[in-house]
Amino acid sequence: MARQITKAVVPAAGLGTRLLPSTKSQPKEMLPVGRKPAIQYVVEELQAAGLRQLLIITGERKRAIEDHLDADPDLVQALEQAGNEAALGDLAYLESEARFFFTRQSPPKGLGHAVSLAADFVDGDDFVVVLGDSMIVSPDPAAPLREMMAAHKRLKASAIVAVETVPPEETYRYGIVDVGGAEPAPGEPVAMEDIVEKPPVETSPSTLAVAARYVFSPAIFAMLSRTLPGKGGEIQLTDAIRLLIQQGEPVYAWPLAPDQKRYDVGNFESYFRAFIEFALADERYGYLVRKYIKAKAYEL
Ligand code: G1P
Repeated sequence: MARQITKAVVPAAGLGTRLLPSTKSQPKEMLPVGRKPAIQYVVEELQAAGLRQLLIITGERKRAIEDHLDADPDLVQALEQAGNEAALGDLAYLESEARFFFTRQSPPKGLGHAVSLAADFVDGDDFVVVLGDSMIVSPDPAAPLREMMAAHKRLKASAIVAVETVPPEETYRYGIVDVGGAEPAPGEPVAMEDIVEKPPVETSPSTLAVAARYVFSPAIFAMLSRTLPGKGGEIQLTDAIRLLIQQGEPVYAWPLAPDQKRYDVGNFESYFRAFIEFALADERYGYLVRKYIKAKAYEL
């Protein structure tokens, strides 16, 4: 019987060129989205999904991520003495049982290359991949991962890939899956027939886009080792998944539900949207942001 999945890989080595000058000296994963840096939401989601060994793939100019995930007993003690429960709650991700591991991808040669660096860490187990720049907004942000892991086990899958419907004119921004024209229901895994990285709308097989969350069996590593540079000259994870499908391995798309929305800090447009969304949802400051936006809307 397949063991419970405990390992997660978080690629976070991308240069963030689309976010210059904000990313001149800091990782895009450390940009604040509301009150927390993007990577903290990812880590909290993984911890809430029960993952205990988290490998972050970092790179040049990414050291702030390691600092943010480093335990800080002096700070915690000072906050305890001051009785600052709110700040302590925000730092709970440091007190979790989960352990952080780090490796560097230098130079970054693509998402597929980043994941291939996790082979020794994964060491023959099933594992999760969550992109470090992308967050889920939902009443229970860890629900998709939990359900995807359960589906992976139940279906004895080689890969389960979260997908979301995007507008047709945005297919060029995402990995797009072919599910043979099926219209899958949220949370219902559907067999994947093909997958292609960032196709133009004219040739896109659907509008179901890869949503930054994956569950893999270790079979993906053999495919990654055979994957040649693809879109943008990079080794694409999408192309390795395509090889899995071509080998006849069971690969499924897993559609997010309408109340499970994915946001990312990959470019300014999506970063601004993410910031507004998280600021509005903030339990402490959300009401102020709502008030401000409502007043502001009259001027626009
Ligand atoms: C990556 C993947 C792409 C996926 C996207 C969002 O692209 O290559 O398949 O759809 O993340 O999950 P990136 O945004 O890093 O260019």
